[in-house]
Amino acid sequence: MQKLIQKDTARHDRYLINFDTNYLPCEFYDVVIIGSGIAGVYTALSAPRNAKILIITKEAIEINNSVLAQGGIAVSLDQKDSPELHFKDTLYAGAGLCDETAVNALVNEAAENIATLCLYGVNFDRDEDRRLSLTREGAHSMNRIIHTGDATGKEVCDTLVNAVSALENVTIKEQTFAVDILTEDGECKGVLTANEDGTELKTYYAPVVVCASGGYGRLYSKTTNPEVATGDGAAIAYRAGAELMDLEFVQFHPTVLYHPDNQSFLISEAVRGEGALLRNSRGELFMEKYHPMKELAPRDVVSRAIIQEMQKTGSNHVFLDITHRDKKFLEHRFPMIYKTCLSYGFDMSKDFIPVAPSQHYSMGGIRTDEWGRTNIRGFYAVGEAACNGIHGANRLASNSLLEGLVFGRRIGLQIKENLNQIKLREGFKPIISYKREWIDKKIDVASMISRLQNVMNQNVGIIRSKESLCAAIDEIEEMKKEVDGVKVVHTQFMELKNMLTLSSMVVKAALMREESRGAHFRSDFPATDDKNWRKNIVFVGGN
Ligand code: SIN
Repeated sequence: MQKLIQKDTARHDRYLINFDTNYLPCEFYDVVIIGSGIAGVYTALSAPRNAKILIITKEAIEINNSVLAQGGIAVSLDQKDSPELHFKDTLYAGAGLCDETAVNALVNEAAENIATLCLYGVNFDRDEDRRLSLTREGAHSMNRIIHTGDATGKEVCDTLVNAVSALENVTIKEQTFAVDILTEDGECKGVLTANEDGTELKTYYAPVVVCASGGYGRLYSKTTNPEVATGDGAAIAYRAGAELMDLEFVQFHPTVLYHPDNQSFLISEAVRGEGALLRNSRGELFMEKYHPMKELAPRDVVSRAIIQEMQKTGSNHVFLDITHRDKKFLEHRFPMIYKTCLSYGFDMSKDFIPVAPSQHYSMGGIRTDEWGRTNIRGFYAVGEAACNGIHGANRLASNSLLEGLVFGRRIGLQIKENLNQIKLREGFKPIISYKREWIDKKIDVASMISRLQNVMNQNVGIIRSKESLCAAIDEIEEMKKEVDGVKVVHTQFMELKNMLTLSSMVVKAALMREESRGAHFRSDFPATDDKNWRKNIVFVGGN
């Protein structure tokens, strides 16, 4: 795929803070993994047992996006299904921008990784014959989503975290914030970290660093993502000189609970997979007008259809109707969703559920090849933090946990193949320091974060235009000026700096892409322009 390479001419700080590794406590590992979601933990499990591995995570180990995944994992297991059909559906959803080599790896290596999960003891739902139950989600031509009720991510993560915690070669450090990766001569040397209040810095040296820190959903005020999803990995990578790709493609999930007290609870696409219908606020069905696959059209199509119906009826939500299914079925198939909806006064077996689209997934991220390698030697990225091109302009449902597995294992295999060389580089302590003059100024970080999130929500959502994007970039550049050169004193401030770095690139990419494709819809350029825009926008980091 052709690439449009962008070098940001603005001056960037290489590091977020001053430090000198001569004076910092340090530890040595073969591999440091940033992030404790499925991609990070599975990478550690896939690496050889004689590799000394550290997993760091900025919160508790179970706080990540993977744990919240409801629907399941896509894998072609049905007799009538095949990796070729899964490949075709992934490419169709990706709207012309998928990297076919990476998608081939994804669909062809799915089954073997699912078999590994079963060996670890992941308890997927099974039918009477003990075969894995398969359901349908949007834009899949076959039933191919395996699941554990409506809490698949939690079952998989709990099982994998148990397994990794039992390994002697793996150390896990929680409440450890990755400030920056350390580089020297274009090579990754380790990670500079801070404790929660930013008062204690520490260096973890390693010849291999894997960024599995998740996406950037928290750039938006309305999102299904947990608070930790602030895009730190991409911002860290960018400062170090890595490339970021496809940032303008942000996925909005069509059906998120709409209630005054909760607008972030996901109502899984699997509910539509089990037959739920969408009705506008007048109770009318509408998806037939928008796509032949109706409720199971690709996510971007369904989200835009909902927005149009909301505008037409002057409402801030539509309804999801699964009242044709009985209570017993719903309680068994969707225990968490059923209970949560009930707690907000909706009995799914009798009531329509009010829903509206909300930010859900970041297709863009740190550019890698199909082996998770970035352009910085020794630095890898995997999962939502990475962009290897499998999702193109719009991710196919339930391909994300699968991505963490397939490409986590691929990184693990490379560590295995290169362990001798990696060990040779271990123990080498480069002396790296950074110093600039910082201004002491009090910044109300929490209110700046919500200001940024509202700007993104209002202007860089499902439907964008030059006007809305220019309004966003003006505001973001203003905020960047307010914090430029200001001394960072705690990790929330580091998050804010990361969020500003990333959001300005999301908006710049969205402005550059003068067409509509997948999750990126421009009201001023509503058509897809294959002639000029069947290419990826890549930002090259560094100074
Ligand atoms: C869902 O359960 O609808 C989310 C699945 C996904 O994001 O792939």
